[in-house]
Parts: sequence; structure tokens; C-alpha cells
Amino acid sequence: MDDIDEIEKKYLDAISSVSSLDDLDGIRIKGLGKKGEVTSLMKSIGSMDEIERRAKAPKLNSLKSKIIEELEKKKGLITEENINKRISEEWLDVSRPSRSSRKGKIHPISQVTDEVVEIFSDLGFSIAEGPQVESDWYNFDALNIPPEHPARQEFDTFYVNSNFDSETPPNVLRTHTSPVQIRHMEKNGGVPCRIIVPGKVFRSDYDQTHTPMFNQLEGLAIDKDLTMSNLKWTLEEFCKAFFEIEDLELRFRSSHFPFTEPSAEVDIRCSWEDGILKLGQGDNWLEILGSGMVHPKVLKACSVDPNSYQGFAFGMGIDRLAMLKYGIPDLRSFFEGDVRWLDHYGFNPLDKPSIHTGLR
Ligand code: PHE
Repeated sequence: MDDIDEIEKKYLDAISSVSSLDDLDGIRIKGLGKKGEVTSLMKSIGSMDEIERRAKAPKLNSLKSKIIEELEKKKGLITEENINKRISEEWLDVSRPSRSSRKGKIHPISQVTDEVVEIFSDLGFSIAEGPQVESDWYNFDALNIPPEHPARQEFDTFYVNSNFDSETPPNVLRTHTSPVQIRHMEKNGGVPCRIIVPGKVFRSDYDQTHTPMFNQLEGLAIDKDLTMSNLKWTLEEFCKAFFEIEDLELRFRSSHFPFTEPSAEVDIRCSWEDGILKLGQGDNWLEILGSGMVHPKVLKACSVDPNSYQGFAFGMGIDRLAMLKYGIPDLRSFFEGDVRWLDHYGFNPLDKPSIHTGLR
């Protein structure tokens, strides 16, 4: 009997002296674990004779319950102590400056590209892409701009690894997205097609409204029976949706591009008062894009028969559209990577433009 009393005292003392949950668990395992001291004593009950069992079993049972009870009590105490300790140690100084909460913003060029793509997708156009380093053929010849053509000078072309002595003309950084028209028609048998081509283009030019790299968006539709009125309707729908002005007036001004015939530049109605530009009203016109019916020579260069198929094409500056729509005065600021600028002019990443929910 004394043994059992001693064992109880030993465990209760141990329990009262520990201060961590790990140590407490150590005691539990030592006494009540599978091979624990108390567990073995409990097991020994089975092999006791009647008299011994009567004498010892109740004591052993109460030893076990007492230890379990004390373990539980101590566990509660230690847990409470731990919580109080954390509360007193971990306090928050709300007067300290918080970590920067800068959120990412969508660059106006990405935003406007998404807006334009959204509108043309709705009109049935899909996206095509092409290389930024182009051969002379795709950038010029196939688009009806032969070597002696004056338009070559107008483009302020960057040449890549220029070797003017060699037989083959040097590659260029594409001066417009129009070469993708050719690549697309060649690759896809030409017809029918409705594509838009957003992408970077390059010209050696630098001032408030020109940078050596800028972004264009090309459009091309080829089919039977496409006419200038399809072109007009498409561009009217686009401009109204993009500038979000229902009654926006457009003017087609006759122009010249080597790769389209007839060609038209498209202006939208606007007013300039005290240096403030307002779109959709007033007596002025603002040029926003170039367009025309695809020149038969361009179709022939892509093995498309111009007697069976016609098409229209257009090209616009994405950066210029962004400047106009969102009142950004200097094109160069787009490419300076100033986060303060982006904070001011950027867009919320979760607001994906869509026709139905509004583009902005
Ligand atoms: N490629 C022309 C430019 O860069 C724009 C354009 C494209 C004009 C297609 C007409 C048709 O100026």
C-alpha cells in the first residue's frame, strides 16, 4: 500500500513542479503511457489473487484517476499562463509607421491595349502577333514600298547590323505593325481573315509626342465583298466604344499609304478651348488613325487573288489613344518607369475592361 501512496506522491510532486506542456506530457507518458509505470501496475491486477486484488485494485484505480485529474488541472494552468505571457509580451505599437501598402497599378498602355482588344474582339477580330526585328521584305516590299519609294524615308528606320554592301538588305526594327498583315495572310492562306495586331514599333524620333519605341495596333479584314463602308462602320463602332461617346462624329479624309488604295485618315470631332481638349464636340478635328482598302499588290504578294477578295486595313497608335482618352500630355512619361506617375495615371488591376461593365 505504501508503495501506491509513494507513487501517487511522486507523480503529484512531479506534476506540480513542471512548467511546460512538454514536460507535463513527459510525466503522462512515464506514468500512463503504453509502457508507463501506472499502466503496468494496472495490468498486474489481472495476475493478482483474489485477496490482493480486492486490496489493491481500488487503490490503483484511484491512483490512475488522481494522476489524470492532476495532469488535466496542470494542463489548464500552464495553457492559461502561456496565454497571459504572450499577451504581456506581444503588444502592438499602432503609432509606428506601417509597412508600405503600395498596390500594383496597370500601366495606361496595358489598359488601353486591353480596352481596344476587348472592343475588336466583340466585333469578331482575333489577335495576331509578329517579330519586332523584321526583314526588309515584310516591313517594306511586300507592303508595296519598293526600295526607291519615298515612304521609306518617312519612316526614320532603325537598321539592324546594317551591311549596305551586301546583296541582301539589312533587317530593320519594324517601323509599323503592318508586316504582320503579310505574315498572317501567308501563314493562313490569306482568306478570310479578321485580325488585330497590337505591338511595339520603332522609329528614330524623340520629342513630346514621339519616342523611338511606341505601340501600334493594326487591323486587317479580308473577305469577299468587303467595301469601304465596312471599314467606316467598323472604325465608327470602335471610336464610339473606345471614347465612350455615343454620338461621336468621324471624318474620313482622303490620304495616301502605299499599302492601301483608296486610303483615308480618320479624324474625330473635338474642341480646343484654353488649351483643354474636348472630344466629340466643337469645330476642330483630331486625327486618330490611318486606314484604307488593302492594295491589290499587297494581296498578290500574299498569293491572294484581288479579283475575288478585298479587304480593309487600319493602323493606330495605342499610346496616342491613351494620351487622348486619359489626358496624359507627354508620351515620353509612359516609358520613364516613374512609380509616382504610375500611381497617378495607372489603373486598378482587378478592373478588367469590358464593354458590358464599362471600359474604365
Ligand atoms: N502602317 C501605317 C503607319 O504606320 C498605318 C496604317 C495601317 C495605315 C494600315 C493604313 C492601313 O503609319
